[in-house]
Amino acid sequence: MEKMDILLLGSGGRESALAWKMSQSPLLGKLYIAPGNGGTSQYGTNVALSPLDFDAVKEFVKANDVKMIVVGNEDPLVKGIYDDFENDETLVVGPSKAGAALEGSKDFAKQFMVKNNIPTARYRSFTADTIEDGYRFLEELQAPYVLKADGLAAGKGVLIVPTIEEARASLKEMLSGMFGASSATVVIEEFLSGIECSVFVLTDGNGSYRVLPVAKDYKRIGEGDTGLNTGGMGAVSPVPFADEVFMEKVRQRIIEPTIKGLLAEKIVYRGFIFLGLINVGGEPMVIEYNVRMGDPETEAVMLRIDSDLVELMHAAAKGNLGSLELKEDPRTAVTVMMVSGGYPGDYEKGKKITGLEKVSDSIMFHAGTKAADGGVVTSGGRVIAASSYGKDMEEALAKSYASIALVDFDGKYFRRDIGNDLRK
Ligand code: AMP
Ligand code: GLY
Repeated sequence: MEKMDILLLGSGGRESALAWKMSQSPLLGKLYIAPGNGGTSQYGTNVALSPLDFDAVKEFVKANDVKMIVVGNEDPLVKGIYDDFENDETLVVGPSKAGAALEGSKDFAKQFMVKNNIPTARYRSFTADTIEDGYRFLEELQAPYVLKADGLAAGKGVLIVPTIEEARASLKEMLSGMFGASSATVVIEEFLSGIECSVFVLTDGNGSYRVLPVAKDYKRIGEGDTGLNTGGMGAVSPVPFADEVFMEKVRQRIIEPTIKGLLAEKIVYRGFIFLGLINVGGEPMVIEYNVRMGDPETEAVMLRIDSDLVELMHAAAKGNLGSLELKEDPRTAVTVMMVSGGYPGDYEKGKKITGLEKVSDSIMFHAGTKAADGGVVTSGGRVIAASSYGKDMEEALAKSYASIALVDFDGKYFRRDIGNDLRK
């Protein structure tokens, strides 16, 4: 195969990790990252383009003979970037707009799961017109109550509340525009109790797929999984409870029916499917679908892929994964996120980041950083993901924490308990 020039859309730690992995491929020509961040320029050329400005993306792709677009985050997919390029030569790694609705509409995702017999929490959807039915449905459920805005809400659209009074109040607030149009429809579902993991599948839209290394992420800001939800504070791969037996159930009950369901409904999907799973007494159930890789899971998962990711993504985007193998690295990989003080609430930006040059045992994936005055400064809540290999989780974590100790910026915070819940 000839080398190809690739455009990667996004600017987070996930895109840094994807760029790092792609940059190791002999099939990669030039790599462009739009808009990228203060670290992605190590792997390619940052381009000042908005991933949501499809006309500008198209113009850039034409002018630079880009052969493939890898879409890092969900927004362009939900907005239909795949469909926009359908008649162009440039391949897009990702689902069509119809497929992206698995993430873009929780109501659609739940309907899809029910139709395809995929295990998930019992649910119903409500609008302002059916709020009274919503109150009645809450009476059928046990505390705590799970309410989800139907549409994209930047990871904030899920409320889990302890009492029925709060659930009623939340339902009303959500339907009155708490998350704008995203919560005009609200999914109420049964609370599931268990430990979560993230399973990533790369599919070619023709029935073939490969399962990537499984990861677990840590969403809460505080140690012991307390405090507010964040974009993700760290991740570990592999996940001990996602063993052969569990994964066989995931394949049979969740992955296969998902792939078949997409085919049956003629939904074009050539990209990554992210299954947010929960292990309920040994039985996997789906909490949510996402239509892209996870962040920060990707900052651990990429370390554990031993195959050529460019070759795999290209084959998936062409609709022909064929017999390509996805080999896993047997080592453990972890990532620990360094975040800005105050995150996920208000925080200051523009803090100078020092000490990165001292790190040698970890890969420091930039997230919210930007280049400034010959160095880098913070430019977001999640700043840098410190990713490391180890023969086991302890060794990998020790390296990430040692690397984090070498790097500083005003307000630096990170969780010291990543992986704790997986220890026997
Ligand atoms: P989501 O945005 O759908 O990933 O939901 C955010 C988080 O809420 C999930 O990662 C879970 O930790 C939690 N969650 C969502 N749905 C449920 C459920 N039905 N039962 C228990 N926890 C849930
Ligand atoms: N780590 C969860 C997500 O990417 O949505």
